[in-house]
Amino acid sequence: MPSARPLAFAPVAASGRPRPFAPSSTSPSASPVDTDRAALLSGLCAPVASIAPKFFYDTLGSALFDAITELDEYYPTRTERAIFSARDAEIAAAFGRTGCTLIDLGAGNGEKAARLFPVLRPREYVAIDISVEYLQRSLEALQRRFPHIAMTGVGADLGRPLELPARLPREGRLFFYPGSSIGNLLPDEARRFLQGLRAHLDDTGALLVGIDLAKDVATLEAAYDDPLGVTAAFNLNVLRHANRIAGTDFALADWRHVAFFDATHGRIEMHLEARRAVCVRWPGGERRFAAGERIHTEHSHKYRIDEFAALLAHAGFAVQRRWTDEREWFAVMLARPAPDS
Ligand code: AVI
Repeated sequence: MPSARPLAFAPVAASGRPRPFAPSSTSPSASPVDTDRAALLSGLCAPVASIAPKFFYDTLGSALFDAITELDEYYPTRTERAIFSARDAEIAAAFGRTGCTLIDLGAGNGEKAARLFPVLRPREYVAIDISVEYLQRSLEALQRRFPHIAMTGVGADLGRPLELPARLPREGRLFFYPGSSIGNLLPDEARRFLQGLRAHLDDTGALLVGIDLAKDVATLEAAYDDPLGVTAAFNLNVLRHANRIAGTDFALADWRHVAFFDATHGRIEMHLEARRAVCVRWPGGERRFAAGERIHTEHSHKYRIDEFAALLAHAGFAVQRRWTDEREWFAVMLARPAPDS
């Protein structure tokens, strides 16, 4: 399983394979594969079964997510992109320094960050993602386009404490967390995650974060249940990934994609629902599901601007500036470590 390896590598030009250099952490007692397997099985055995959203992102899952971002119904990516392209110079001016270390959290194909390279002019680009092979390929391509920027890939699970390559200067770090990925964390998890980022910054650093904002339910639900079925495929693919990691025998045809807005928590929820009574087996165990029983796979929180600013404040950040689109569907915030935090 390629994901969740705390591996750092530098991309090389077309001819060679990336050279692994100093792993960014020492090996824990259980291998990441064992840890992932244990996490998956304990989620499946819980009274309300769940699979953590990080398991969406194997190679096919990452490609399906890229396809989602092309859908008419999935507005966040294009809305955020429009904000970045209209405001890129203002964002760079607000950050106020060139030659930063741009640290892309959940970089995927790195394209969002690459669009900001011309204005931010980073000295080094550090791309972190759980899908190591996908990241590696993306970074090789980016390095060919931007040979003057030093690039480092880090394969890591952002659900674990963030470890950066020790040689990175502390000064001038800019964390980049676009796409409203923070919405996939529960608010408490989001606060802890932000506190973790804060701990890696001095007062010259900042966080540039994208947040999907609260809006009408029909727009939200269409974005997570498109008629082409791409989001359904993305959701169902998590079962293929589980079969590989944990040796489960999920038959995808037994499950259907369910997505709805939960107004109480202000979030989209995604689930997989059993189409009939199903028994899922794996070496050493099984779990029976009644027809209609669900496996919870994702939350996607939709914040109000003031709510998210309060979350940032709890984590030791102050919003320096924010930008939204005309409909106020999406916000990009530049946050600085709060002086007294
Ligand atoms: C990655 N994340 C911000 C996406 C979202 O909108 O919550 C994941 C996604 N799930 C279904 N569609 C997109």
